Amino acid sequence: IPSVRTVLAGHFPIGAAISLPQTLGEHARLLSKHFNSVTPGNALKWDATEPTEGTFRFADADAMVDFARANGMQVRGHTLVWHNQTPAWVFLDANGQAMTPTAANKTLLLSRLEAHIRGVVGHYGSDIATWDVVNEVIDENQSDGLRRSRWFEIAGLDYIRTAFRVTRQVAPDAKLYINDYNTNVAAKRDKLYNLVSQLKAEGVPIDGVGHQMHVNVDWPSAAETEAMIQKFVPLNVDQQVTEMDVSIYTNSGESFPTPPRDRLIRQAYKYRDLFDVYKRYSSEITSVTVWGLADDDTWLDTFPVVRNDAPLLFDEQLQAKPAYWGIVDPTRIE
Ligand code: G3I
Repeated sequence: IPSVRTVLAGHFPIGAAISLPQTLGEHARLLSKHFNSVTPGNALKWDATEPTEGTFRFADADAMVDFARANGMQVRGHTLVWHNQTPAWVFLDANGQAMTPTAANKTLLLSRLEAHIRGVVGHYGSDIATWDVVNEVIDENQSDGLRRSRWFEIAGLDYIRTAFRVTRQVAPDAKLYINDYNTNVAAKRDKLYNLVSQLKAEGVPIDGVGHQMHVNVDWPSAAETEAMIQKFVPLNVDQQVTEMDVSIYTNSGESFPTPPRDRLIRQAYKYRDLFDVYKRYSSEITSVTVWGLADDDTWLDTFPVVRNDAPLLFDEQLQAKPAYWGIVDPTRIE
């Protein structure tokens, strides 16, 4: 069967989120045949790279970066600042107590942030050309659009400004992204647009907007995704699809022991329709990543409830699904 990375050459690199097992055996063969970008799904997050202050661990991520280099793949660095998977010590004050929003704690938190970015981004240098500098900072239910994370509560917007400025200093050639989910929803993307617009006006070095694209067989429409991309064109930022998967479920009450054929077909057409949009916007969309290699390893098996999902291009036996044909040759979907 054709290689996805070859079929999409001329449009954009195609990536997969991976953990270490995907770099071994049959998984590695499938990965290197079809993809030319990888995103370590967890290995570059703070809890993995700096579990205790000043002690950095890079073994797993290094192995993935080596695999990528050996196979002619790019690496997306995910992610430097997030409200999840951040060790508790980051938010403890000088006395070992939970930080309260004081000037001293803000200074301490931002110095930890700077040291973390210098440690992680400095370790990889030019091996990682794209970073999700901040992840999921928007909350469309706040009038200012800003998520009330511990980062925000203690440091306000300065944690975002600091993260981008320090990453730019350490990796001046890397593309720096702000990444978020549900940007197909107008209320969410409008808040994201406002923030990026403000920060760029201040001179904060943001290069791109990452659209996660955790979607399902019925949502969004191609028109909604087109509106998502168009929204950011006036900002002169690159855009990437960073975490795409297409759940076979349309609500949290459904559960199938095996994926029904009709869902897999609807999924294939959703992949086709959304990739058609991405390809029409190839001058904006500089990379598309799916959040997993095959259905044997997907976060959607446990979110929002425990059930068997099948959101990716290859099945649990690593065989090409209708979804694969949706991207490669839609005439072969059925
Ligand atoms: O590594 C431990 C293992 O030692 C332990 O035995 C096991 C038992 O719970 O947990 C393992 O850690 C899990 C980790 O994935 C690695 O498999 C965590 O529990 C689990 O919570 C974690 O989930 C990750 C999730 O982010 C955490 O928020 C998913 O793999 C990862 O795919 C997911 O990725 C996020 C993106 O970063 C941001 N956008 C949303 C996306 C999906 O949630």
